Amino acid sequence: MPKNFNLELFLAVSLTKKTKVSLFQQIYENLRQAILSNRLQFGFRLPSTRSLAKEINVSRNTVMGVYDQLIAEGYLEGKTGAGTFVAKDFPTEIRNTKKIETLSNSKTTRTVSKRSQIFSKISSGFAPVVKKPRAFQTGFSALDEFPIEIWTRIASRKLRNIPRSHLDYCATQGYLPLREEISKYLASARGVHCQTDQVIIVAGSQQGLDLISRVLLDVDDLVWMEDPSYIGAKAAFLGAGAKLIHVPLDFEGLNVKKGNELSPNARLAYVTPSHQFPLGLVMSLSRRLELLEWANKNSAWIVEDDYDSEFRYEGKPLMALQGLDNNQRVIYSGTFSKVLFPSLRLGYLIVPIDLVDIFTKTLSFISNHAPILEQIVLTEFIREGHFGRHIRRMRNFYAERQKVLIEAIKNDLSKYLKVEKDAAGMHLVGWLKNGLDDQVIAEKALEFGVYTPPLSFYCVKNKLPAGLLLGYTGISPTEILGGVRRLRKMFETIA
Ligand SMILES: Cc1ncc(COP(=O)(O)O)c(C=O)c1O
Repeated sequence: MPKNFNLELFLAVSLTKKTKVSLFQQIYENLRQAILSNRLQFGFRLPSTRSLAKEINVSRNTVMGVYDQLIAEGYLEGKTGAGTFVAKDFPTEIRNTKKIETLSNSKTTRTVSKRSQIFSKISSGFAPVVKKPRAFQTGFSALDEFPIEIWTRIASRKLRNIPRSHLDYCATQGYLPLREEISKYLASARGVHCQTDQVIIVAGSQQGLDLISRVLLDVDDLVWMEDPSYIGAKAAFLGAGAKLIHVPLDFEGLNVKKGNELSPNARLAYVTPSHQFPLGLVMSLSRRLELLEWANKNSAWIVEDDYDSEFRYEGKPLMALQGLDNNQRVIYSGTFSKVLFPSLRLGYLIVPIDLVDIFTKTLSFISNHAPILEQIVLTEFIREGHFGRHIRRMRNFYAERQKVLIEAIKNDLSKYLKVEKDAAGMHLVGWLKNGLDDQVIAEKALEFGVYTPPLSFYCVKNKLPAGLLLGYTGISPTEILGGVRRLRKMFETIA
């Protein structure tokens, strides 16, 4: 123990009322740190609660609460009649935080799996995303417009009457009434051909992609990816040990001929045919048929990620690729992250009927099933018509926001950026003029408080013209205008 260490003084100077952290929490954390860093060594006798409370000017109850908590966690021990001491049998490795910090330099081998090393190297965004969306973060919904009162009303009604049987493990495949609603919705809105039996509820698309890789891929299997493509899908396939074949796109979508030249024997192709991520292209009918034919001929699988198809602002929605598949080669993936809210963590897969059992069995060893209450609330939300209403309302909102963005760019940024109207989606691609480099511009924009991912961040082999992704759905028209003004300032500084 450092000489002259004065616990009362140490606590007294570190306490502050200018914070939202309670006095209890502050005393607890300071004492815990003093023990962990060896400033208080084992056997040290703490002052009585009464005397410490007086010294540091807090209530005795607070100090008693802290002592009780630290006793319960094993940092302190109380001896009747003798007082409270720093626990003797506290493991020294845990006690000394310095040792924990320097573990990475230690000579012992601390091996983690190749899979996790792959994940750690994948960057999920070109810069850290902040919690509150700012211009022009991509993939954010207008969460402030979500009808939270309706959702909470349904949730509390359902929770009050929840049958005890729902406290037990539930069906791995998902809550049957929700699966029924999803199959009805997909048949009418997306032209998906499926029976309720083919619907599997997952914890968002990311879990769906992970499940697909576990069921359909082995190490060294080849996977066709659209280039550019969605990072989350790449991560799931790479994590399974697959090798990615980056197939270029043209105006009709994934170039199947090029894919065949690069690697005809791929096991799986991942596509976003309704609205290519991130370019926003729609895969043509002839290309869809070509892809289905390739999959059937080569006994390959197609993963159709239909992540944002609800947001189509013009024309009739395009029917899903899955609806054209006569050979049960397509696994269709959908999510409630965009259309409702991402922390719901609910999505679904529509899998070929002969694969339902193996998908379900595999899922049972991952998460067993998605939380039941959320599934019940969502079912009711759909049944009472709120889901349909929310989609229609958001479509109008987002169409308006896209219009505001396009007009502002045309008025203020036409010297530097070219954008075109998109009939669907949640972001636009702004094509950079004058040979500007998208990575450089995106970095510079960050300095001006604007987040606009460079298109090249998503490309691997395909060299596309320089572009910036401009998300518009999660921010208000005022924020859109502010973002465009800041971008203009940024461009003027480099002009
Ligand atoms: C192409 C694509 N698929 C799926 C998702 C949604 O993932 P999740 O359902 O895991 O939230 C996203 C999210 O940004 C996406 O861009």
